[in-house]
Amino acid sequence: MNPVVELDHPLAAHLLAELRHRDTAPDRFRDVSWILTTLLVLEATRELQTRPQIIMTPLEDTECEVLAEGLAAVPVLRAGLGMLEPIVKLYSDVKVGYIGLERNHDTAVAHSYYCKLPDLTGRFTLCLDPMLATGGSASQAISLIKAHGGERITMVSVVAAPQGVQKLRNDHPDVSIVTASLDRDLNDKKYILPGLGDYGDRLYGTF
Ligand code: PRP
Ligand code: URA
Repeated sequence: MNPVVELDHPLAAHLLAELRHRDTAPDRFRDVSWILTTLLVLEATRELQTRPQIIMTPLEDTECEVLAEGLAAVPVLRAGLGMLEPIVKLYSDVKVGYIGLERNHDTAVAHSYYCKLPDLTGRFTLCLDPMLATGGSASQAISLIKAHGGERITMVSVVAAPQGVQKLRNDHPDVSIVTASLDRDLNDKKYILPGLGDYGDRLYGTF
């Protein structure tokens, strides 16, 4: 897979425009987040290995393809939680871990307040955080995932700033990034431009 993939699909673009719109209310924001994550995850898991398995339909046996490797998902709290449910629906055997990280309002440096990860050895692992801004949170999250055995890791973000992409490429060159948009810049408070504001606040109505 390319190290950085930007979704190129008219429906993904349309959904992202809804997320960006300042008047999109939390209930619709959550729904659109759900649907757009499904599209991102389809792209992020494109290279998962499958194996043949004989399946009995009501009419006859047929050879189908089923997943040959395990999948894990690690949402970064809070905003990453808005991306978890679609993955659990796509693949119910997914192993889920949680990482809590919060940026300091003044410095934009993230500190870790929670980490509950299973053994990720041998699992293809998706790190879920919709906003890749400075990349500090994503880099910390991936270090924790690696410390728990994660090897094949893909970062899934709705929007990514150039600074975040660069930091992740420097800190974790083995990790690919899948995003719906490579945005232009960060503002002086380290919010993504044009971005969509504070994802967690918009998801949970905590403005
Ligand atoms: C947001 C976002 C990322 C982080 C990105 O979380 O969900 O985790 O900022 O910024 P960075 O790339 O500069 O580290 P925030 O700290 O606002 O916490 P929240 O999800 O609980 O709102
Ligand atoms: N976190 C967000 O929720 N939005 C940004 O633009 C940057 C970090």
